[in-house]
Amino acid sequence: MPFPPETINIDLTDRCNLSCIMCALKYLPKTESDMSYNDFCKIVDIFSDIGVSGFRFTGMGEPLINPHLPEMLKLCKSRGFQTEVWTNGTLGEVLQKIMGLLDTIVFSVDGATDKSYESIRTGSNFNETKKNISNFCHNNLQTRTYISYVITNININETYLMPILCKELGVKNLNLKSLRYMYPYVEINDHNKYIVSLETRQMLDISKLSFIAKENQIQLHFEQNSPLWRTCTAPWTQTNISHNGWVTPCCVMQDFNYIEFGNIFLTDFDDIWNSNKYREFRRKLLSRDPPDGCKKCGFCEDASSSPNKDLQRTGD
Ligand SMILES: C[S@@+](CC[C@H](N)C(=O)[O-])C[C@H]1O[C@@H](n2cnc3c(N)ncnc32)[C@H](O)[C@@H]1O
Ligand code: SF4
Ligand code: SF4
Repeated sequence: MPFPPETINIDLTDRCNLSCIMCALKYLPKTESDMSYNDFCKIVDIFSDIGVSGFRFTGMGEPLINPHLPEMLKLCKSRGFQTEVWTNGTLGEVLQKIMGLLDTIVFSVDGATDKSYESIRTGSNFNETKKNISNFCHNNLQTRTYISYVITNININETYLMPILCKELGVKNLNLKSLRYMYPYVEINDHNKYIVSLETRQMLDISKLSFIAKENQIQLHFEQNSPLWRTCTAPWTQTNISHNGWVTPCCVMQDFNYIEFGNIFLTDFDDIWNSNKYREFRRKLLSRDPPDGCKKCGFCEDASSSPNKDLQRTGD
């Protein structure tokens, strides 16, 4: 296949054991089911030997809930694929089982204290999560380790503590993310309650943060301060597959009831990837009038307050 995606995002389940305050999962239609091992094997076969570099397991739920995850990762490794998992880090027994099978793991930890962490990640226990992460990282030195931290008005003051927490847990990278409309077409009032204004976010002292990170040997990553769609390459470089086979553009727009380009179990992926619908989506993303779902993708405030809001994409 000419120009295949580099990364395949797979939603292994739409179930989750937490109900985080900023996550849109609770508002979306759910089937409460997992991808079967058999279906996963079919997907791996489709993407073997065509130039895809790896699989990323994130999606609309907690990937570690799928009971077949260890076997799925083993299959990926046996075919030479890179593997990346995003997890809430609460399922310690599963983390033990996937040790040695991951190139990258991202733990989502949105607080440096039990009070803020547990109030954001509803249903979690901070000490348990810390124990799980520490155990994984200190015994898995070959895996790239990240903490992903979504900044809200509840935890912004704890941002400076995060590099210290990373060091304590053995995590090497800290990824700071702004709250965004995860499913941009869903009206989620919750988001508005937790938004940090642009002015407040700009008060984060980046040089102080960088200094603390350096002192603790933590690599700091920031998201770019502009709406995502203007620089987005997702529809050319990745594709997203739901637990029941629907292909969607990216891991932000992954609700197949809202948008899908076809089902990988019913249609040849080559035909999906090069379909008129997919191509039209890409064409619109390059224009001044991106697909509706993309317009609000990025920082929550940016739609109204970004100083760069009139910036246009090169080639537009
Ligand atoms: C939807 S979760 C799925 C994987 C797993 N359950 C987890 O929590 O890592 C993927 C990532 O999206 C992040 N996320 C959820 N809601 C968000 C929002 N409104 N804005 C930005 N990131 C968000 C989570 O913190 C997590 O890092
Ligand atoms: S962010 Fe992850 S852990 Fe939290 S509710 Fe959403 S899917 Fe579940
Ligand atoms: S929603 Fe649109 S702009 Fe955002 S990541 Fe997906 S394709 Fe890119």
